[in-house]
Amino acid sequence: VGAAALIGAGTGLGAGEVLSPRADTAADTGTPPRLRMSGAHAPDGGPGRLQTGITGTPPAFAHVLALDLAGSGGEGGSSAADTRERAAEVLRAWTAAADRLHEEGPAAALPGAPSAGLLPASLGVTAGLGASLLAAAGLQDARPEAMAELPSFSTDALREEWCGGDLLLQVGAEDPVVAAAAVQHLLGRAGGRVRVRWSVRGFRRTAAAAEDPGATPRNLMGQIDGTNNPAPESPLLQRTVQVGRGAGPEWMAGGSYLVVRRIRMLLDDWFGEDVGHRERVIGRDLPTGAPLGQQRAGAEVDLTARDAEGRPRIPEHAHIRLASPQNNLGARMLRRGYSFDEGWRGDGTRDAGLLFMAWQADPARGFAAVQRNLADAGDALNEYTRHEGSALFAVPPAARNGGYLGQDLLE
Ligand code: HEM
Repeated sequence: VGAAALIGAGTGLGAGEVLSPRADTAADTGTPPRLRMSGAHAPDGGPGRLQTGITGTPPAFAHVLALDLAGSGGEGGSSAADTRERAAEVLRAWTAAADRLHEEGPAAALPGAPSAGLLPASLGVTAGLGASLLAAAGLQDARPEAMAELPSFSTDALREEWCGGDLLLQVGAEDPVVAAAAVQHLLGRAGGRVRVRWSVRGFRRTAAAAEDPGATPRNLMGQIDGTNNPAPESPLLQRTVQVGRGAGPEWMAGGSYLVVRRIRMLLDDWFGEDVGHRERVIGRDLPTGAPLGQQRAGAEVDLTARDAEGRPRIPEHAHIRLASPQNNLGARMLRRGYSFDEGWRGDGTRDAGLLFMAWQADPARGFAAVQRNLADAGDALNEYTRHEGSALFAVPPAARNGGYLGQDLLE
């Protein structure tokens, strides 16, 4: 089945269709992940469709790369027009490469690559742009308000080398070799025009290992993570994630904004605490993921509930209390992060945690509002985490037929 046939199949939803139903089906039923995702192009030539890799069940592996355009910014002193042209060349090349990968699969599209003999494995490529690129390309006037720099937070421990980036690439697949082969190919197609600023190889549990492939996975702290996300295919999900027409410059209508935070977990400290304490830090039961005092992970969180002694069931500093929409002016985002484990640093520090990724239509009213509250109101989880990297990317809608990602901005 070609990608065009797949995404066209019976949806008729146009800009409102924000999910890849095939991606959900494959992961939820545990069927072998042969599917191809919607490509970089919208199916009907119309604008306003999310790129692949934003909604739908995340594949088990994802490389997330922030790249800088060689020669942009202070480096080499190239002109804004050159930078803009170079960005267009890269995005044109990536759009074409992503289409081929999505349509033909990584084995057929990459002769001689390590993906030979492997199935498409839900390979999906997503590309975005950072504010530094717009500045270097002389496109400040086209910069949406939603792309304003993220504020600093009182708990930040950011390191310059893990922050920012002119361009984003997210390459997801159910197989790590497929993802690695696609990354190699995409970087090759960009020629010498980009260099990697930072990258993280993320993972979640594989469908093959899951007793219940439909269950929400756990992060490296052992918590079921992602329960209280907007429901798949719901109008709330679409409103949360997708930039509406008229909500900023036209080039982003139908796209989304991604906030990435490289959050190291202090796992030895965490696992040194007893289970009861760990549960109170989040406000949820560890085995089931249910809100404390309830039975099921899916049960609605009741922040007013009290135990027999009159104490709040969800403690005052619990993560889910301070992150809840009720305490953040209704702030919503789609959290779709990946675990990372880079082993140990030279000084013996464990370098593992959560590559937190949140998709939203407006980061100021989504991620930034919640993170400010988590930092300033004293989220109990802060003691066990360090935010060491941060970036914000505009992820424009899927390209029109014959066009390329970001074209409406760059031409
Ligand atoms: C909920 C873990 C960082 C926002 C949760 C839950 C867990 C969790 C286990 C409960 C289950 C769920 O609903 O998904 C973590 C860990 C983090 C982290 C381990 C860092 C390593 C963040 C950050 C933000 C955030 C940085 C945003 C600034 C939320 C939101 C919820 C949530 C909005 C849902 C709250 C609700 O019930 O309405 N998180 N989280 N989390 N988290 Fe986090």
